[in-house]
Amino acid sequence: MPMLPRPTVFIETYGCQMNVSDSELMLGKLAAAGYDAVDAPDGADVILLNTCAIRDHAEQRVIGRLGELKRHMKPDSVMGVTGCMAQRLGPRLLESAKHVSLVIGPDGYRSLPSLLDGARQGQRVSATTFDLEEHYEDFTPRRFDKVKAWIPVQRGCDYKCTYCIVPTTRGSERSRKLSDVVRETAQVVSEGMTEVVLLGQTVNSYFDGTHDFADLLRAVGTVPGIRRLRYTSPHPNDFSDRVIAAMAETPTVCEHVHLPMQSGSTRTLKRMRRRYTREGFMECVARLRAAIPSIVLTTDIIVGFPGETDEDFEETLSACREIGFMDAFTFKFSAREGTPATRMPESETVSDAVSGERLQRLVDTVRARTRDMNLGLLGTRHEILIEKPARRGDLLQGRTRDFRTILVGGDTSLIGTYMTVEITGTTGHTFTGAPVAARAALPMAG
Ligand code: SAH
Ligand code: SF4
Ligand code: F3S
Repeated sequence: MPMLPRPTVFIETYGCQMNVSDSELMLGKLAAAGYDAVDAPDGADVILLNTCAIRDHAEQRVIGRLGELKRHMKPDSVMGVTGCMAQRLGPRLLESAKHVSLVIGPDGYRSLPSLLDGARQGQRVSATTFDLEEHYEDFTPRRFDKVKAWIPVQRGCDYKCTYCIVPTTRGSERSRKLSDVVRETAQVVSEGMTEVVLLGQTVNSYFDGTHDFADLLRAVGTVPGIRRLRYTSPHPNDFSDRVIAAMAETPTVCEHVHLPMQSGSTRTLKRMRRRYTREGFMECVARLRAAIPSIVLTTDIIVGFPGETDEDFEETLSACREIGFMDAFTFKFSAREGTPATRMPESETVSDAVSGERLQRLVDTVRARTRDMNLGLLGTRHEILIEKPARRGDLLQGRTRDFRTILVGGDTSLIGTYMTVEITGTTGHTFTGAPVAARAALPMAG
C-alpha cells in the first residue's frame, strides 16, 4: 500500500516568549501526531496563528495577517487561531473570519490533533476552557532556538493590573513542579544547549506547593552543564530576600533582570494596581544592586495611562534617569475590553497626540542614558555566547551575561559557542567587538 504523505503544518507566532514556547509545544505535539512542520504557509495542510491580545495593535496585525493568509490556503487547508486572542474572542472569531475553523485558547493544545482531525472534516470549533492542571508535561517541544532553551515554569497570572488582558487570556497562576523543570533542563543540556530562560508572567512568584523561586533558581542553576540561567518577567513585589540571595549565590544566574516598572509615579502605579510605589520600586532596585553590584536592568513602561498628568509622566522620566535602565520596552496605553482601566472616567483619557509625544520623550531619555553608559564600556572585555548571524553584514550576534548585544566577525559554525571579546565600538545601543585570547591577562568585565 502506498504511504500517505504526512500532512504539513505552518505556525506563525505573535506576542511574548510564553507564546513562542507554546508554539514549540504545539509543534512537538503535532510532530508526534504525524505532522511535518513547514516554514511557509503556501500549500500547508494546516495554518496556525498563535496570537497575542496585549494591545489593540497586536490584534490588528493578526486580523490583517488572517486576511493575507487566506490567499495561501488550498481548498482543503485548515486555518486555526490559537493563543491569547483566541481565548479572548472565542466563537466571535469564527463569526468574523469564515475561513477560520479552529479557535483554541492557551490551555487547549492537548486536543490540537483531534480538533484538527475534526476541522479537516469540516467542523468549526472554539475551545477556550481553562485547565488549571495543564502544563503539557508529556509534550516534547520542538524548539526553534538551538542556542538557548525557553522553559515555562508558570502559566497564568494572579495579579490584576488594571490595564492588562493577560489574566483574562491565560487564567490563574499555577506553577510546574520543580522536578519537572529540572528534568527538562537536564534534557536540553544533554542536547547541547547551555543557556536556559525560565518563563512566567510573574515568574518569581513561582511556588509549586513546596518550592519557591529561590529553590528553583538553585536547582536549575546547578544542573550539570548549564552555564547561563535567566528568567522573565519578574514582578518587583516577589523579589524576596531568599530569591535575591539565590541569584547572588548561584554563579550561573546571569547579571541581568528585566524588571517592568510601568510608571515612575506612585499615583499612576496605584491606579494601575501594580501594588508598589515609586519608592518601593527604587528599593527593589537598590536591594538587587546591593546583592549583585554588576546587575543590568531593563524594563517595560506604559505612557498615557488614563489620568496620567504631565507631572506623573515627568516622574517616569526622572525614575528612568535615576535608575539607568540599559533598555526599555515602551508602549502607549491601549484600552483592553473588560479591563478595569476601561471603566475610568472618559475625561481622564490621554489623547493619542499627547501619548505619542510622551513616548518619544521617553525613548529619547532612555536612549541618551544608555548611550552614556555604553560609551563607558569601550575597551572592556566580555564573554559572549554566539546566538545567531547578525541582521546586517557577515557578522555574528553574541550576548554577554548581562544581556548586551555584541556583533563580532566569524563563521556560523561558532553559533552556540562562547568567546571572549573586547568591545571596539558602539552604535549607542549595540556593540561591535573583536575576539581576544581567552587566557588574556587583562581583568574581565561583565
Ligand atoms: N507579566 C509581565 C508583563 C506582560 S505584558 C509583567 O507584569 O511585567 C508585557 C508588557 O506589555 C507589560 O509589561 C506592559 O508594559 C505592556 N502592556 C500590558 N498591557 C498593556 C496595555 N493595555 N497597553 C499598553 N501596554 C500594555
Ligand atoms: Fe498583566 Fe500585571 Fe499580570 Fe503582568 S502582572 S501579566 S501586567 S496583570
Ligand atoms: Fe500577548 Fe498573551 Fe503574551 S496577550 S504578551 S501572548 S501572554
